[in-house]
Amino acid sequence: MSSQGSHEAEAQMSRLYPVAARSPEPRVEAASTPYPDDPSAPRIRGRKGSGRPIVMVTAYDAPGGRVADEAGVDLILVGDSLAMVVLGYDDTLQVTVDDMVHHTAAVARAKPRPMVVADLPWMSYHTGTPDAVRNAARLVRAGAQAVKVEGGRKRVPVIEAILDAEIPVMGHLGLTPQSVNALGGFRVQGKDLDGVRRLLEDARSLEAAGCFAIVLEAVPDVVGQMLTDSVGIPTIGIGAGPHCDGQVLVYHDLLGMHDARPAKFVRRYASLQRDAVEALRSWAQDVRSGSFPSDSESYHLASTTDIREALGSHSFDSRPVSLSHP
Ligand code: KIV
Repeated sequence: MSSQGSHEAEAQMSRLYPVAARSPEPRVEAASTPYPDDPSAPRIRGRKGSGRPIVMVTAYDAPGGRVADEAGVDLILVGDSLAMVVLGYDDTLQVTVDDMVHHTAAVARAKPRPMVVADLPWMSYHTGTPDAVRNAARLVRAGAQAVKVEGGRKRVPVIEAILDAEIPVMGHLGLTPQSVNALGGFRVQGKDLDGVRRLLEDARSLEAAGCFAIVLEAVPDVVGQMLTDSVGIPTIGIGAGPHCDGQVLVYHDLLGMHDARPAKFVRRYASLQRDAVEALRSWAQDVRSGSFPSDSESYHLASTTDIREALGSHSFDSRPVSLSHP
C-alpha cells in the first residue's frame, strides 16, 4: 500500500475504530517504552514463550492510567483491590459493579495505550450467566477491553458466555480474594498435593474455555512454574515466583502509597505516602509562618492607583487591595 493509501486507511480506521487506531501521535516518553506494540488480548496471548515478560499494574483513576501508560506497561488492571487501596474497605467484597464502572471509566479517560482489563467484582457473575454478560458489557462500555474473573472450573460456563459476547476474559487462580471467607483468610494456596492438582485442573479448564491469560496469586514458586509450564496461555504472577510469563503488582503497594505492612511479594519502588505527608507538612508550616503565598504566587492588578483614587485612599488605610473586596 502506498504511503498515501496507508494514511487514508489510517484515517478511515480512526473514524471507524477510534480505540484501535488511537495514539498515533508520538509522545515524549514513547522512546522509553520497551515494547511499543499496542497490546490486545490476542497479542498478550501470543506472548507465551516469547521470552518477553508481560508487565501489568493496577490503576483506578486517570492519573494512575497516565502513569502506567508513560511507564510503558503492557496491561492496566482496574482491580477490585480498589476496595482496599482506594475506598478504605477491609476486603474486596464491598466493591460493586457501579464502583468498578466509575473507576474503569476514569482510567479509560486517560486514553492509555496499554490494554485495560477490569475486574468483575464479587456477586457480579455468581448469580448466573446473563448477569455476568450484562456486567461485563458495562465494564467494556466504561472503557475496558477485557474482564477478569476469579475461580477455576466452576466459572467455565460464565467465562464461555462472556466470550460469546466477544469480550476477552482473563482468569485468576490461587488466592482469589473474593473467596476470602471460603478460604479462611488471605492464605497462600497450592501448598499440598490436592491443592496443586486442583490448580492444575483449573488452569487447564480456563485455557480450554478460552481465557487469554491467567493471574496466579500467592502460590509457591514451584507451583507457579508448574502451572506456567502446563498451559499454552500466559500466566501473570503476583506472589507466584519468577517463572510466570509476567508479573502484576498493585499500584499503591509498588509506590508505597500506604503504610500498611506489605505482603512478602511486594517490592516498593517509592514511598509516596511518606513524601506526601512531608510535602503537606511543609506547606502547612509555610501557611502558618506567613511565607505562603509569596508575591510571585499572588495575582496583581496592573495598577492599583486608579482604584485607590476612585475609592478614596482612606479605603486602603485599614485593609489591603483585593479583587473580591474592592
Ligand atoms: O484486584 C487486584 O488488584 C487484583 C490483582 C491482585 C491481580 O486482582
